[in-house]
Amino acid sequence: MGAKKKKITIIGSINLDTTIRTEQLPKPGETIHSKEMFTSGGGKGANQAIAAARNGGNVNFIGAVGNDNSGKALVELLGQDKIETKGIKQLESTRTGSAYVNVNDEGENSIIIYGGANQLITDEHIIEMNNLIEESDYVIAQFETNLSSIEKTFEIAKEMGVTTILNPAPAKRVIPKNIIQLTDILIPNETELETIVGSKITNEAELIKSVHAIHEMGIKIVIVTLGSKGVFYSIYNGDSGFVPALKVKAIDTTAAGDTFIGTFAAKLRSDLSNINDAIAYGNRAASLTVQRYGAQTSIPYKSEINME
Ligand code: ATP
Ligand code: RIB
Repeated sequence: MGAKKKKITIIGSINLDTTIRTEQLPKPGETIHSKEMFTSGGGKGANQAIAAARNGGNVNFIGAVGNDNSGKALVELLGQDKIETKGIKQLESTRTGSAYVNVNDEGENSIIIYGGANQLITDEHIIEMNNLIEESDYVIAQFETNLSSIEKTFEIAKEMGVTTILNPAPAKRVIPKNIIQLTDILIPNETELETIVGSKITNEAELIKSVHAIHEMGIKIVIVTLGSKGVFYSIYNGDSGFVPALKVKAIDTTAAGDTFIGTFAAKLRSDLSNINDAIAYGNRAASLTVQRYGAQTSIPYKSEINME
């Protein structure tokens, strides 16, 4: 594999995650005791940035935090992983994004997010950071920042010939046409794919049909993460196939998808010639994340990932 580090710019969310572990997820109206509670750095954007940086990526971040202690601490955490943070603004009169993560004994979770500063990124902010976008091999976005911030970033990226990767999470039924047209690689999980296409996926044929529907929208590369089943990928008019996940015992899947995306991007060659290897690497990295608690605390470093 080439030694040149991939330059990746993430436009995305920065959250303070509060994780509460319970035996089961509470039902409506129920009050239950928790086993443990802790905070960690989170947010899909920040997690993907950390995953890429810990696995050989050279990462810029564009985003926003509030004028509070958690905002400052979360930006420092990104800096500790050698992520370029000059694209992050601290906004007055708003809070830093936060997420409340409930994890049960099966490793399943439910998450409530409060967007805060993540939702207040202006076009001017993005335009000011256009040099970060221009110098990148890949730009990655998710749906935890305002749609206009994604659209503006992708517009600049495409003008500069930079490859765009969209992780449509959390799921949105309708994605603005302009964002679809500006996306080169879409990486949804199965539920997000169902939401975009508007039909359930219960077998392989339905999965392939849904992926083709995305190609018909104009997106050339679709990579669907399938939890413990691994990943399905499809290149329009090209190769497609399943890459199985590793068999492990998952205790907390928070940031599994983010780990896959960040590490995959850090490994993917611009000509896509190693897409299978990059997916296998992402799978291996995410299989470590699911065996640990928390978001950024669970994302592995390159030295932990053996690719034999
Ligand atoms: P999350 O929102 O929990 O971060 P996600 O729903 O975005 O995750 P998934 O498809 O559940 O994404 O998982 C992403 C990747 O993580 C999978 O493609 C796989 O590589 C790995 N993974 C997830 N769950 C497991 C598991 N139980 N065992 C092994 N690998 C797993
Ligand atoms: O993908 C996991 C992330 O989703 C968590 O870190 C939480 O902040 C939510 O944004």
